[in-house]
Amino acid sequence: MTETLASIVRALVAPGKGILAADESSGTIKKRFDSIGLPSTEGNRRDYREMFFGAAEAMKNHVSGVILYDETIRQEARDGTTLVDLMKAAGSIPGIKVDTGAKPLAGPTSKIETVTEGLDGLRERLAEYYTLGARFAKWRAVITIAEGCPSYNCLNANAQALARYAALCQEANIVPIVEPEVLMDGPHSAHDIDKCYEVTEWTLKEVFQQLYYANVDLTGIVLKPNMIIAGQKAAKQASPHEVAEQTLKCLKATVPPAVPGIAFLSGGQSDEAATEHLSLMNAMGPHPWALTFSYGRALQAAALKTWGGKSENVAAARRAFAHRAKMNGLAAQGKWTGALEKAA
Ligand code: 13P
Repeated sequence: MTETLASIVRALVAPGKGILAADESSGTIKKRFDSIGLPSTEGNRRDYREMFFGAAEAMKNHVSGVILYDETIRQEARDGTTLVDLMKAAGSIPGIKVDTGAKPLAGPTSKIETVTEGLDGLRERLAEYYTLGARFAKWRAVITIAEGCPSYNCLNANAQALARYAALCQEANIVPIVEPEVLMDGPHSAHDIDKCYEVTEWTLKEVFQQLYYANVDLTGIVLKPNMIIAGQKAAKQASPHEVAEQTLKCLKATVPPAVPGIAFLSGGQSDEAATEHLSLMNAMGPHPWALTFSYGRALQAAALKTWGGKSENVAAARRAFAHRAKMNGLAAQGKWTGALEKAA
């Protein structure tokens, strides 16, 4: 059976399922391992990822796809099975991070703003990733709210790069996850929910404009946005209902209904907040697009802590992961409640 972009997207945003973002770069995974006092060796990184991908029930029931890092897509589990085959056996689609990171954007805001790189040679890299099993990809643009930022130069450069990446992915029969992330941990104390709304709306307008110019087929992408949320340093935090309402309002103003699915990043929200916000939004449906999760930290944090780098903790860590996956699977259907969270 030939997989079309549309059929891959459909599978990625199937009801009750979402994406596990396990594509931490070498620098980021080191930070995560530092939090449990574990050195970031190739073997430890393999064991950590194997812990998730081998959690068969959670993967089968709630994880439609996994975003991998270049090292991981080539790695083998302890028994010699490739990690890709391990997740495929659980019915999950392999994906790959293809950007090479956010680098300082030359110009007056270079201390704050970045442009995401990775377009050079991308056509050839995508062809190789396809042979390694990847059927979707990810590119993350980073937008920072600060005094005088974002600049139009930053939004335009990042949106153009996202559009060029997305067009190359579709040419390679790989679904692009288009991720423009407006950070919630920027340095600006006046970064409240209204400011997040304003910047996210502008960002998404710019991204969809560039996707149009690049002839990207919107029916063959997944959008991965931030939620509309007050910055972590804001004096006034927004209620969960406000986050849900403002996020939906912003998406309705910017994301064409041709886009089949939106999978949010968690961006530093607590595990439970990320779940609650998603569930509230789905309970306010129906919407023109499927709304689900593509969480990194909010799916992994509890399992990472429980695992602590020890093989004897793998079973308990998998239970912690299975719980979060289940809660987010419910949230993707608008069925999560605080009572269900506590009952487990
Ligand atoms: P978080 O959910 O931890 O924000 O990670 C998602 C992701 O893939 C960021 O690029």
